[in-house]
Amino acid sequence: MPPREAHASAPGKIILLGEHAVVYGEPSLSLALDRRIRVDAGAGGPRATVNGEPLHAHRHAYIHQALERGWNGAPLQLHTESELPSASGVGSSAALSVATNAVLLRLHSDTPPAPPAIARAAFETELVTQGAASPNDTSVSTAGGVVLLSPSPRPGAELLWTIERDGRAWHVQRLPPLDLPLVVGNSGSRSHTADQVAKVRRFADRSAFARDLLRQIGQLTNDGVDALADGDLRRLGQLMNRNQDCLHTLGVDTPVLERLVLAARRVPGTYGAKLTGAGGGGSMIALSERPDDVVAALERLGAHAFRVRSSGRGVEVGP
Ligand code: MEV
Repeated sequence: MPPREAHASAPGKIILLGEHAVVYGEPSLSLALDRRIRVDAGAGGPRATVNGEPLHAHRHAYIHQALERGWNGAPLQLHTESELPSASGVGSSAALSVATNAVLLRLHSDTPPAPPAIARAAFETELVTQGAASPNDTSVSTAGGVVLLSPSPRPGAELLWTIERDGRAWHVQRLPPLDLPLVVGNSGSRSHTADQVAKVRRFADRSAFARDLLRQIGQLTNDGVDALADGDLRRLGQLMNRNQDCLHTLGVDTPVLERLVLAARRVPGTYGAKLTGAGGGGSMIALSERPDDVVAALERLGAHAFRVRSSGRGVEVGP
């Protein structure tokens, strides 16, 4: 018998290299974070609620969309708890989509859902809610750890699943765990992924130069995977800096993010810094031997800055 109650949690993420380009089938390299979102769900009650409020199609857009596609319409009480700032480039909507779809799949079945089924359902939720998306954020949140998406499988990397859509294939692969000295600086201004993805789409549709930038980002990401395999943080940092230049030219950087990136790079021991996620606000990351000094430098500029660790824990579903 399927359970009447279920819970799931899923991590946020940061993209080291490859955001935006991954929407066009280029590779991306990401880490799941040690900060999570948890969703508890119980069937029953007079109508669907989220944290005690009636489900609202806009306020609870990702949950609403997940229920539209993956639920039978019976009343459901949902509770969410988040350690992730929302609309800040660290994957809170992906983690919410993953955890919500995981509980819905669990409530439908006698056995816990398999990660590929969760990743596919959560990708659909993001795609429909945002209008355009790659499966990057939802797959990283589902898998946990260090994850590479690429258009063809990379030899030596464990293939977790493949997601195909509109003639593109994203191979989701696990890379060895690593503990990088990383800092996130949240600019405090909200970033709307759909707007930024649409902005890049308009640029790419009419400009061969923009399409070339997206391909360059793909090449930087492949080089970054090699640098990571060699443990070469200096090279990885240089590649992050070049990726930032491409994102800046694509138009998704902001003056505040740029100031934070430059401040992080000025701290001795910093290998590289770039925006992370969709841009247009949200967060930047820095790879630095002196992460505490970077946190202090970013906070002096008014950012909410914190060290992050990657986590091997992907989605977890109960009971
Ligand atoms: C957002 O975190 C990452 C983007 O590449 C969008 C996506 O991959 O869906 C900008």
